[in-house]
Amino acid sequence: MTESFTINKNLSEEEIYKALISKIDSLLNSNEPLISNLSNVTAALKEAFDKISWVGFYLLKNEKLFLGPFQGKVACTVIDVGKGVCGTAAALKETIIVDDVDKFPGHIACDSSSRSEIVVPLMKGDKIFGVLDLDSYQLSAFNQTDKVYLENLCLTIVHKLEFNYQYPIIK
Ligand code: SME
Repeated sequence: MTESFTINKNLSEEEIYKALISKIDSLLNSNEPLISNLSNVTAALKEAFDKISWVGFYLLKNEKLFLGPFQGKVACTVIDVGKGVCGTAAALKETIIVDDVDKFPGHIACDSSSRSEIVVPLMKGDKIFGVLDLDSYQLSAFNQTDKVYLENLCLTIVHKLEFNYQYPIIK
């Protein structure tokens, strides 16, 4: 199937998120492998926002987060739960916004040009499957609007797709 995705960059971030989430909702197909679905989510996000330098999923297995589908430069493949921004968000089961990565103790720098970051846990109820991580070369690139809509997006993903608890890469 051919998929096209165009975003009017003149819209507000809120309007872009609304269009994006609706598009992603229609792109997700629970009959296809999870890795294919998550790959398209990262592509759509990267295309929608110029402020994103890297976007990807880290998926949980045995208390470690493993690199999943992503868009951007080569990244670290394993992060312990509790370490870095991703591991801290997974441990707390809370979204973390980092305005300046140099001020986050233990930040893991996969790309030294990255300046700010948001990490959203991928959760269904109390169960955590991984995190969605977005980086930017701009300071303070992410705000409460990003948090609200990215959390909404993660909820859409976990409700629409079938996740096996721990390491849901291939169905
Ligand atoms: N900065 C993250 C590591 C992942 S990369 O940004 C892709 C962290 O501190 O967990």
